[in-house]
Amino acid sequence: MRTAAVVGAILLAPAAFAAPQTLTTSEEYLDYSVLDTAPASSNVLQADVLASAAAINQQIYQSINNPTQWRKCNRNNAIYRREWAAFSTSEKKDYITAVQCMSKLPSKTPKEKCPGCQNRYDDFVATHINQTFSIHNTGNFLAWHRYFTWAYEQTLRKECNYKGYQPYYNWPRWARNPAGSPALDGSATSMGGNGLGGDRCTNQTFYGIPTQAQPLIEIPHGTGGGCVDSGPFKDWKVNLGPVFTDVTCTPANPETNFTNGLIGLGKNTRCLRRDISSWTSSQWTNDQQVTKLLKSKDMKTFWYDMQGGENPFSNNFMGVHTAGHFTTGGDPGSDFVASPGDPWFFFHHGQIDRVWWTWQNLDPKNRINAIYGTVFLADPTAANATLNDSMNLGYAYPGTVTIKDAMSTLAGPFCYAYI
Ligand SMILES: *[C@@H]1O[C@H](CO)[C@@H](O)[C@H](O)[C@H]1NC(C)=O
Ligand SMILES: *[C@@H]1O[C@H](CO)[C@@H](O)[C@H](O)[C@H]1NC(C)=O
Ligand SMILES: *[C@@H]1O[C@H](CO)[C@@H](O)[C@H](O)[C@H]1NC(C)=O
Ligand SMILES: *[C@@H]1O[C@H](CO)[C@@H](O)[C@H](O)[C@H]1NC(C)=O
Ligand SMILES: *[C@@H]1O[C@H](CO)[C@@H](O)[C@H](O)[C@H]1NC(C)=O
Repeated sequence: MRTAAVVGAILLAPAAFAAPQTLTTSEEYLDYSVLDTAPASSNVLQADVLASAAAINQQIYQSINNPTQWRKCNRNNAIYRREWAAFSTSEKKDYITAVQCMSKLPSKTPKEKCPGCQNRYDDFVATHINQTFSIHNTGNFLAWHRYFTWAYEQTLRKECNYKGYQPYYNWPRWARNPAGSPALDGSATSMGGNGLGGDRCTNQTFYGIPTQAQPLIEIPHGTGGGCVDSGPFKDWKVNLGPVFTDVTCTPANPETNFTNGLIGLGKNTRCLRRDISSWTSSQWTNDQQVTKLLKSKDMKTFWYDMQGGENPFSNNFMGVHTAGHFTTGGDPGSDFVASPGDPWFFFHHGQIDRVWWTWQNLDPKNRINAIYGTVFLADPTAANATLNDSMNLGYAYPGTVTIKDAMSTLAGPFCYAYI
């Protein structure tokens, strides 16, 4: 395992002396089934070992099967997204400054399309609300969020002069103590800390998943629940939503019409709330859970494991996607529709993309174009997504891509991988 991680690190380093197309001549992939168990004493996460193997396999696959594309996007010029904990202090500050810059730029969404959009950041929240909840959604949960997170990274760079790349939050590393992670510890280089205690905003002693009225999983309150009062986002304004939330003390959004495309997009300015839950993260985002997800035998298995099972949330199983949202919880973090209003969203979805990328590239030949699911996450009876379906990001980002374009992080509009 250690060897694989080391090999991964070496291969990932740009090698000026090697022409990119001569990475390898034999199509031999790392067999991840032999990378099975990290030694008990090891502090290397098994999920990270698998990610290292995926990084190597992705390069082998691209260089052999897509040599033309590999000449354009290869290990010498690809971007490597890193975990927040690996950012230096000045890199963290640059990222935070860029996110805050987006919330000061004017919105590009016409007022009649989003009466509550106050700034450029809200354009991303509005697109997510409009496309997640409404019947207008196209695409596929994983492909769409890959494109969405990339467009956000591009916007930070193009409009806010950010020189770095989107960080991710490596769930299992902090599963036992998310509030102690560099992303959520409330320090000046975090994305803000927990919410104030004693202001929990539910009329029950738990947050109910999937709903408060019909809880299949009851998450006990943590020590927060109120407005985030520490770190650079303590004065952050949430302007849109709520749409689908357990938090009861937030005023309802003035726009409630489901069919006119405006639901949740009225102006509803309020504080950012969190109730960090180690109860949630320690059970469903630990290394064992993430490794199980990464060992899914096919896309359908991966898909349901990520989303809480075929009958979601029964069998006391939350899945990493929902568990990641309820690691911070609060408003809008626990609201699947309006959740990008908490800038931590993009850290969580960076990691969602990273585990999908890992799963794909453990066996790239068979998985690079594997999709499962309908065009509307919440509706299993909607049409199945196909690789030909096109996706757009509304007023957040110009252009369209197909799902096919979003299947490889080294092709389509992208040129990035993860370390
Ligand atoms: C909690 O409050 C909401 C709204 O105030 C209400 O609709 C719901 O019935 C309450 N639930 C319980 C279990 O009291
Ligand atoms: C909601 O919007 C639709 C489409 O614009 C409209 O036909 C309908 O009357 C609206 N419903 C309400 C309750 O305003
Ligand atoms: C979607 O695909 C599944 C198999 O993955 C199939 O069972 C289902 O019938 C398909 N739905 C439609 C509407 O074609
Ligand atoms: C996707 O488009 C290609 C070319 O336009 C076509 O050959 C293929 O049959 C389409 N596939 C589906 C599933 O629609
Ligand atoms: C919501 O989606 C509809 C249909 O795609 C689109 O016409 C509308 O402009 C979108 N609104 C926003 C705010 O993106």
